[in-house]
Amino acid sequence: MADGRRVVSFGGCNYLALANHPAVVRAVRDGLDRFGLSSTASRETTGNAAPHELLEHGLADFLRVERVLLVPDGYLANIAACQGLARSGLSCAIIDERGHPSLVDAARTAGLGVGTFAHADPRSLVRALDALRPGRVVVMTDGVFTADGEPAPIADLLEALGPADRLLVDDCHGLGVLGPAGRGSVPHAGVHDPRIVVTSSLAKGIGCAGGIVAGTETDIDHCRAASAYICTTPIAPAMAQGTRAALRVLIAEPARLDRLRDNTARVRAGLHNLTVLAKGNLWNTPIAAFTLGDLATMERTEKELLDAGYRVPLIRYPGGPAEAYFRLSVNAEHTDTQINGFLRAFRAILAHRPTTVTARVRQEVADGLA
Ligand SMILES: Cc1ncc(COP(=O)(O)O)c(C=O)c1O
Repeated sequence: MADGRRVVSFGGCNYLALANHPAVVRAVRDGLDRFGLSSTASRETTGNAAPHELLEHGLADFLRVERVLLVPDGYLANIAACQGLARSGLSCAIIDERGHPSLVDAARTAGLGVGTFAHADPRSLVRALDALRPGRVVVMTDGVFTADGEPAPIADLLEALGPADRLLVDDCHGLGVLGPAGRGSVPHAGVHDPRIVVTSSLAKGIGCAGGIVAGTETDIDHCRAASAYICTTPIAPAMAQGTRAALRVLIAEPARLDRLRDNTARVRAGLHNLTVLAKGNLWNTPIAAFTLGDLATMERTEKELLDAGYRVPLIRYPGGPAEAYFRLSVNAEHTDTQINGFLRAFRAILAHRPTTVTARVRQEVADGLA
């Protein structure tokens, strides 16, 4: 809804449309009747309930990892992971310079030394690692970059690691979206390695709430001693029950993921034809970021799209191509009519743009594809 009007939204992170799935909503409702609104205490005291543990086991099976630890959200998942890794003797974090801000916060909170490497650049990572030897390091990256949907070069980053290092992949935007059955960025990259720790929010592709740290039994045991886990109240058991239902839907309805991928390809191709998408039209992630001239032009475009019935949010969020930019996201329940209607409306709006703006966008497209 926008100003009391129904519009088609191309915003947010509900990629698989699981946040509104009837079976998921029903499972939460049932859970509320059974468990109430909150478990009211840390899981390590009296706040643990069966749905929390069942969810951890279900996610470990799905992700094909030894253990999953459930924490209240994705931000705390990064903190719990870093606190756990610090306990296991890692001393430093090297973070992709465009990584989510929670990665830096997490490393600092855990008392790790913090360095960065150039965005998605394994050679820069190698140099940064060399400077820190003989220390053991956790390399941290988004699996899919929040702002513009770029997938991280996970296999190449892994190559740079020493035997006792770790690669932490924050897969908030890859879980449910990339890889076979939506298992995420790591299987999408075709790697499986005990040095990888995956963190994620469950509030995006999975559509519910909570966060996870996934990895080997040893690493997750260390994370279980983290204050970000011990000293926090978990998601409501009802929400854990809903999240289990979301996972069941994801597994039982592979057509949902196929549809997301089809929709993604069609919207990306459409934006490319409109010469709007400067970079990343080859990425298969449902996020597209772009700018269109100056801020006033973008604000006008956002309003015109809204008037035509389509919400494409102009946002300010770290890591995008400019301070303010459009972050368009596709979901599995966008229909052909909605996608075609949006692309038609966008074409009509762009047709009235001054040529200087469209010429500049074309140049950006050319640069982005170079
Ligand atoms: C890459 C990334 N990491 C971590 C978070 C934090 O997750 P949560 O909102 O569940 O705390 C977000 C978004 O909110 C994110 O995009």
